[in-house]
Amino acid sequence: MCGIVGYTGNHSAVTPVIEGLRRLEYRGYDSAGIAIPTQPGQPLFIKKRSGKLKKLEEALGKTPTTSSGIGHTRWATHGGPTDTNAHPHLDNEGNLALIHNGIIENYEQLRAELEKRGHKFKSETDTESVVHLLSEARKENNGDLAAAMRQVCRQLKGSFTLLAIHSDKPTHIVGARRNSPLVVGLGTNENFLASDVAAFISHTKKALELGQDQVVEITPNSVVITNLDGTEVQGKEYEISWDASAAERGGFSHFMLKEIYEQPKAISDTLIGRLSDLDLKIKFKKINKIVIIACGTAYNAGLVGKYAIEKCGGIPVDVELASEYRYREPSLDEKTLVIPISQSGETMDTLMALRYAKSKGAKILSVCNTNGSTIARESDSVLYTHAGPEIAVASTKAFATQLVAMYLIGLEIGRKLNTLTKREIDVICEELNQLPAKVEQILETVEPLRETTRKFKSAESILFLGRHVGYPTALEGALKLKELAYMHAEGFAGGELKHGPIALIDKGTPVIAIMPSQDSLLAEKMSSNIQEVKARGAIVIVISEHEFSGADYLIRIPKVTQLMQPVLAVVPLQVIAYEMAVVRGNDVDQPRNLAKSVTVE
Ligand code: F6R
Repeated sequence: MCGIVGYTGNHSAVTPVIEGLRRLEYRGYDSAGIAIPTQPGQPLFIKKRSGKLKKLEEALGKTPTTSSGIGHTRWATHGGPTDTNAHPHLDNEGNLALIHNGIIENYEQLRAELEKRGHKFKSETDTESVVHLLSEARKENNGDLAAAMRQVCRQLKGSFTLLAIHSDKPTHIVGARRNSPLVVGLGTNENFLASDVAAFISHTKKALELGQDQVVEITPNSVVITNLDGTEVQGKEYEISWDASAAERGGFSHFMLKEIYEQPKAISDTLIGRLSDLDLKIKFKKINKIVIIACGTAYNAGLVGKYAIEKCGGIPVDVELASEYRYREPSLDEKTLVIPISQSGETMDTLMALRYAKSKGAKILSVCNTNGSTIARESDSVLYTHAGPEIAVASTKAFATQLVAMYLIGLEIGRKLNTLTKREIDVICEELNQLPAKVEQILETVEPLRETTRKFKSAESILFLGRHVGYPTALEGALKLKELAYMHAEGFAGGELKHGPIALIDKGTPVIAIMPSQDSLLAEKMSSNIQEVKARGAIVIVISEHEFSGADYLIRIPKVTQLMQPVLAVVPLQVIAYEMAVVRGNDVDQPRNLAKSVTVE
């Protein structure tokens, strides 16, 4: 969702701020803006535009060369994506600017009170109430913006990352966070604040984590972090493990394509050093139930996790949509292990479900791709996936590594509880080790698939069929197609077809079927499902590890045990969705209406 950047240092701020915003574009946004101090005590330079960053850059004109500033990309919640609603928002003097990610739940009440006290509002946003409140608080605190920010945060309900700058102290930028990401980038004679490290990775690899309800004040040479009561605290410093090139397209036409091709590396990086012991700090002997909570693609990975963990570890597993979980008052206690899966580690639905589970005494083992993210920090133990930065909004390599994490957890439980024999453990490890090469093999042969995909560009709807772990794979294939091609797509379990969905099949309906491994009994059943849809006029694209004469189009993938087939079968599905987006002229990396990191419920 919104991207936030603050810079204070010894260079003109416009470049690092705009460059930072560009690196955060992947989060999804619909307007952008920037605030730069001019002269101390004078109104700030402000420019805001609805639409893409390019429109803001075109509108910038001559900018001040001041070496501090803040910038924002907005994903509209309160008020449409207009120039006026774009951030930064200003106080009535025009000297204080504020940017915000999240939702201020009590903004209406605050606005009514502020208007009564004479503040004039320009936008429909929840954010504008905060800048007026901050302006009052700053005066009450004799110009101390950090003290004012603490006072304001104590009055706010909801979730937020806030960044503010005032022309009286142009080198000082003040930030705050609650349930929304904010990291500090530590440079030499320059410091950064941003929604994520991608914004400043080309300047520094040193970062500082901020905790919940903390306020930070940066200048070029200082970083001061305080709790809301004003007590000073130390942030946790860490080194970013990837470099700037990882967040660039590197010759690929889109980030998504690059990330599809990065999957072999992402899988092997996630496996390295993990096959003999995971060191998870969880006493599996004390666990009698596992609940996986996640959203979207991560949820689909969790569905595969159920098959893997139950088969290897013998503990019953439920998989729940994080957004639904806490509202149905599920039964769970200290014998329950909850596994939140999240690429960003910031998804609000998943975070809230995690907190609910924690409050009931459950142990939390999260699977995250983002170091120091909120979900990781609030968990008892974390299994980091090593996918590297995923920039395209549609998840690909993160999904592959989430699947690997599920197998690793299954393996670990099997080993700890002796539910797997030594021979079974060796076979699983061998299979896992072979995955990167097998994915590579698929990627070497996807060109004809891209051509086949183009034949279906005008289809009204595409259906996906799978059985066993092929079913969550079908769900993931359909989700990818919806997100990228804006086409109707649905995934079904093959066996469910005759219970309703078969009514959708008409002459020419494209159906993509994932054939289970030949050594599983399910291959025959899927074969019958394919005959059933073909008999009703469907055109069938079959993803299979063996020859299959009943396919209109056959996509071969290497042979692998049924449990691990999703890692391979999803690759052609990602390529189909990618190609469909390209051929339909859609924005591949930033599909309409979507955000990468969903920090509101
Ligand atoms: C789909 C996609 C989303 C995310 C979901 C959870 O391509 O990316 O469905 O999987 O929003 O995000 P994380 O994993 O960051 O919690």
